[in-house]
Amino acid sequence: MNEPLVSTHEKKAVPGEFDRVAKSYDLLSALNPGYERHLRRSAERMGLGPGARILDLCCGTGLSTAQIRAAYPDATITGLDASAGMLERARSKEELADVTWIHGDAMDPAASGAEGPYDGILMAYGLRNVPDPDVCLERLSGLLADGGTICLHEYSVRGSLWATGMWNFVTLGIVIPLGLVFAGTTKIFRYLRRSVLDFDSVAQVEERMRRAGFREVRTEPMSGWQRGVVHSFLAQSPR
Ligand SMILES: C[S@@+](CC[C@H](N)C(=O)[O-])C[C@H]1O[C@@H](n2cnc3c(N)ncnc32)[C@H](O)[C@@H]1O
Repeated sequence: MNEPLVSTHEKKAVPGEFDRVAKSYDLLSALNPGYERHLRRSAERMGLGPGARILDLCCGTGLSTAQIRAAYPDATITGLDASAGMLERARSKEELADVTWIHGDAMDPAASGAEGPYDGILMAYGLRNVPDPDVCLERLSGLLADGGTICLHEYSVRGSLWATGMWNFVTLGIVIPLGLVFAGTTKIFRYLRRSVLDFDSVAQVEERMRRAGFREVRTEPMSGWQRGVVHSFLAQSPR
């Protein structure tokens, strides 16, 4: 069997690495065409009703939270992240003043106070980084209300030559150099490249979701260079 490109030890250090780039995260994301539009699309694809209770897991600086707010203006939103630096940026955003922010671990949100139940859970660029995705998904299935929806907004290129080539081109040619210029480090961006290459194929993510008990698992695409690279993995709660 091939050695994983990313170790569990390295994944546990990810929130600390995000602390180091928190100040430049929003600027770097703004340079990525479609970043926020695609988050909005994933939020909308959950198709939640009025007054929904929504968990934004691995919310970072609140870019995904803002797109949830735009899609569901009257929702009650909780944002959880393990990086104090990223959360500090999220907390400073006036337009997200009514969000409940939690400094906690996505591996066990309930242990940090995100107990649910939630009508919707959006986890954008999160599952790939947790040490045990299966345990994480199983716990998330328990946090969803009956009839609730989960959306994993995530990269998945394994098994697609085109998507893998595009990913290597974008990260080696653009993301890592821009990280050096704007954040003064390449470490987290080199990790980003390897972690995506190491991550599941689309079929494997779907299979993980089914194993965790989710129903009606389906995958929807993005547009632009992210087509075939970034996906909305959607599913309904086990009940
Ligand atoms: C790429 S950022 C995405 C932020 C936001 N969802 C967005 O779309 O802009 C990934 C975030 O996941 C967080 N993260 C990584 N591992 C985590 C864990 N085990 N528990 C909670 N947050 C974690 C990082 O701190 C970081 O803020």
